[in-house]
Amino acid sequence: MSQSLPPDLPPGAFRRLDETPDAEFYRQPRFVTHIDDRAIAAVTQLYREYFPAQSALLDLMSSWVSHLPPEVAYRRVVGLGMNEQELRANPRLSRYVVQDLNQQHALPFQDAEFNGAAICVSIDYLTQPVEVLRELRRVLEPGAPVVVTFSNRCFPSKAIAAWHALDSRGHLALVRTYLEAAGGWHSIELLDRSPQPPGRSDPLYAVVARA
Ligand SMILES: C[S@@+](CC[C@H](N)C(=O)[O-])C[C@H]1O[C@@H](n2cnc3c(N)ncnc32)[C@H](O)[C@@H]1O
Repeated sequence: MSQSLPPDLPPGAFRRLDETPDAEFYRQPRFVTHIDDRAIAAVTQLYREYFPAQSALLDLMSSWVSHLPPEVAYRRVVGLGMNEQELRANPRLSRYVVQDLNQQHALPFQDAEFNGAAICVSIDYLTQPVEVLRELRRVLEPGAPVVVTFSNRCFPSKAIAAWHALDSRGHLALVRTYLEAAGGWHSIELLDRSPQPPGRSDPLYAVVARA
């Protein structure tokens, strides 16, 4: 499959230690949280700020939790991820799709179907992030936000080489590069929302952009 590479990234940037199909790695459900409670609270606060009540949201690379603010009602939340048991257990989802974005980056949704999208602690697993973000822009209405969050933890064997090579500032710049290469994104913000004081909980970084 051809791939859009952001400028200055060598092709090996998207290699992973474990190149077996993702379906094998995600076959077993993991009913765990991947960052600590204070970092999750920072994610939830971002969603409070960027996702209006009653909007239709896409939780891309979703699991059994979406970290959406419990007090806010959304019209619809669709999850897309790798493990059906996790997605079925997610109480915020009105619908879910099991899809390997590294095999099939076309999203099974209509143009401008959503008013916002989240990618939480997962962007580092995408081997074709530019194509996925181009598709994500297509399914968001103009002006809708994507909130991409990450910390300093990952499944090492499944994260791309470029992620391992960079520090947190580099991760923020890398995600910005993805968005710029995908095209059609504007108002890109790079945010450090790490709980304070630093070092007492997982850090939390975000890249927010508008379709
Ligand atoms: C670290 S978990 C994070 C889950 C969830 N977003 C959260 O905040 O807890 C990584 C998620 O990325 C999803 N994922 C990993 N590789 C994927 C792929 N190739 N296609 C689609 N989803 C993928 C998995 O299903 C998994 O739920």
